[in-house]
Amino acid sequence: MGRRSAAGGESPRMPRLIRPSSPFPRARGSLILHALRAVMPSVYIKTYGCQMNERDSEAVSAQLVAKGYTLAPSESTADVVLLNTCSIRDMAEQKAINKMQNLIAESRRNRPGVVFGFMGCMAQSRGQRLIDRLPDVDLVVGTQKFHRTAEHLDTLLKGPRRKVVDIGPEEGSQSTIREHLLNGQVSRTAVTAFVSIMQGCNQHCTFCIVPQTRGSERSRTIGDIVAECRELVSRGVREITLLGQIVTSFGRRDIAPVQGRSGFVQLLEAVQDIDGLERIRFTSPHPKGYGDDLVEAYGRLSKLVESAHLPVQSGSDRMLKAMHRGYTREQFLKLIGKLRGVQPGMGITTDIIVGFPGETDDDFARTLSLVREVDFDMAFIFKYSPRHNTPAAALPDQLPRAMREERNQALLEVMNDIAARRYGAFVGRTVEILVEGPSRKNPARLMGRTRCNKIVVFEGGERHRDQVMDVRVTRSGGFTLYGDPAIVNLEPASHAAAPHLPAPIS
Ligand code: 5AD
Repeated sequence: MGRRSAAGGESPRMPRLIRPSSPFPRARGSLILHALRAVMPSVYIKTYGCQMNERDSEAVSAQLVAKGYTLAPSESTADVVLLNTCSIRDMAEQKAINKMQNLIAESRRNRPGVVFGFMGCMAQSRGQRLIDRLPDVDLVVGTQKFHRTAEHLDTLLKGPRRKVVDIGPEEGSQSTIREHLLNGQVSRTAVTAFVSIMQGCNQHCTFCIVPQTRGSERSRTIGDIVAECRELVSRGVREITLLGQIVTSFGRRDIAPVQGRSGFVQLLEAVQDIDGLERIRFTSPHPKGYGDDLVEAYGRLSKLVESAHLPVQSGSDRMLKAMHRGYTREQFLKLIGKLRGVQPGMGITTDIIVGFPGETDDDFARTLSLVREVDFDMAFIFKYSPRHNTPAAALPDQLPRAMREERNQALLEVMNDIAARRYGAFVGRTVEILVEGPSRKNPARLMGRTRCNKIVVFEGGERHRDQVMDVRVTRSGGFTLYGDPAIVNLEPASHAAAPHLPAPIS
């Protein structure tokens, strides 16, 4: 979903660091940092892939800043360039490799001595092979070793450059992704933050490389997560997104259900109790993990927003079985019905893979019909990409690229039509948004998000920043709504009661 670019290295200004465990008193700590900055190298982190990767990059950036490194505004001036990689599809891996090749060539021509490193999923799955292929790379840091990045860089920068490949498992590493930069802005804190709650996945979908790159499921404790969330809220954060590869499995092995409520629902309840927090989101869940306790939580927990990202992958039972998804089309549809029963305005998005091995025209037609039947707000559509050492990669009947492309196009068209209608239906309505900051496409405008996860762009001013406020939607386009706060401000306070206006929806 890529909600924000990675905090790592993208801001030319110094970030504000949240480091709950810092042993330094604040004032003294920052004096020390300023002294170190004058001599410490600068780092640029480029992030590929999902929100989990963005969060990992942010935590590594925060860790480096705490050690006195500065964050370079771009790769072209940095002393250290780290690529935080994604392995989910081959294209993501190739992009990072090409990028590294270009960076190395550029450094050889103009700026010798730059330290290069790979981190994250591809670093984990390829390890030493990355250095064999690109001998100028100095550092390879796996997904359980992010917290050791600063230590490795110190060693590399101080002494003779011996290559470092650190990709072993590490007990407790799931609890090390905890430091925050809060959007890299010094003058103000971010209003939204991601919090990593667990690592790994035990589902073993046949197409998926995640169990190889992120390992098996390991959860943090509820107390630890809540402490981090409280700290963020005390710094001005009003919306928290709980992150993990399969968040609905949170605490499955460690936390006993209480009155039928899973560890994950218990976590949501604990986060709900944090004063000052306005909204809770989470991603990614597994449809199988949506028990009645979680469905019911949407009606009971006021801060849990009316939004669910439910990766369905296919509308064909035959494909779902071959993918090892653990549910049928009918079960999925039943779940959607239950969720809309509890929250009729729920925003529902999904992931779909087209062109899985053996997918027939009939299977694909079932996916198209499922998408129409559910009426998703948005779908992320992926062309199947064979991944090393996954069962699906060894299946016969791999589909030709052209067929995968064709199905991708067909599904995109269907999804765009649905979205145009669903987004268009918001025009004229009043929606509540949390204003996150400047719009990415046009920084002169502001953007906020509805509880059901629609982006709303509007002409606003400083007084709107960080606010939970109502805007009137004036038009829609693509996957964006455009609003006008002035229209709402001119109206009587109780807009819901105004007879000529439709009731506000979130
Ligand atoms: N090929 C294509 N898409 C994939 N995804 C995961 N593995 C693959 C693969 N091998 C997609 C799934 C998942 C999303 C994050 O990426 O749809 O939900």
